[in-house]
Amino acid sequence: MLSYRHAFHAGNHADVLKHAVQSLILEALSVKDKGFCYIDTHSGAGGYALDHEWTQKKAEYLTGIAPLWQQRRKWPQLAGYFAAIEAMNPTDELDFYPGSPKVAAHFQRPQDSLTLMELHHNEVDLLRQNMGNGVAIHHRDGFEGLPALLPPTPRRGLVLIDPPYELKEDYQTVATTLAKAYKRWPIGIYAIWYPLLARKVDRSGALREALANCGFEQVLCAELSVSAQADDFGMYGSGMIVLNPPWKLDEQLTELLPRLKDTLAQDKAADWKLEWLKKSDS
Ligand SMILES: C[S@@+](CC[C@H](N)C(=O)[O-])C[C@H]1O[C@@H](n2cnc3c(N)ncnc32)[C@H](O)[C@@H]1O
Repeated sequence: MLSYRHAFHAGNHADVLKHAVQSLILEALSVKDKGFCYIDTHSGAGGYALDHEWTQKKAEYLTGIAPLWQQRRKWPQLAGYFAAIEAMNPTDELDFYPGSPKVAAHFQRPQDSLTLMELHHNEVDLLRQNMGNGVAIHHRDGFEGLPALLPPTPRRGLVLIDPPYELKEDYQTVATTLAKAYKRWPIGIYAIWYPLLARKVDRSGALREALANCGFEQVLCAELSVSAQADDFGMYGSGMIVLNPPWKLDEQLTELLPRLKDTLAQDKAADWKLEWLKKSDS
């Protein structure tokens, strides 16, 4: 059963955290001329029209990317992320929002490879329509597909894992997939998005613990909450766990997260956190 459609949430605070971190990592990979690979296990539709009726239903972008977009020139540390958004919005109006595939495509050079996986048949059709040439699109299960694609060529790069977590097994599947990935490609950078949910349903603690113990020696965790945690229902924030983060990502996030918290806060409980779940000096 696949019912999740990302258009309902495009551009919300969780997308901002995810795509900001994704952009910082891709920017770091772009510093060297040597090519990189980008693999997206859960790609979605690639890009989103903000006036679509699904996106307008809750208009989550109004408390996500919209306030940042207005003051984007004051955020030099996110210039790459905003350039990816500007590439879809040639005028000053914010009409379209890039999904993770479009963000990645913005950083792609001729020597870089993009591989996008998506299981939902309607979403994969939209993904094909939204992405140009020069990307490989697979209509397949990203959890099964990732280990099969590793080790990739080029040998340096980023894997983004961004499941909808509709199935509670997804949390465990993320951890087992990464344990397999570690055996095949231990030097890759992996970024895993996860939601921070109401107390009765939140599983972020178990995910953090599992990813701290799936083989990788460098495990950085960034969280941004925009409101208080409810008891029963709702997402109050999200997190990104980065395995093998690029040099200085922790310093960049130490500067970025408090500013994002101040800009996206919906109440006084908004907060941010950055911690190494595992760190070795080797
Ligand atoms: C959160 S959305 C992805 C959003 C996208 N990464 C972005 O940032 O723009 C999750 C996507 O995963 C897809 N999906 C769900 N289970 C999947 C699986 N096992 N393999 C690949 N895609 C899956 C859903 O159809 C949905 O489009």
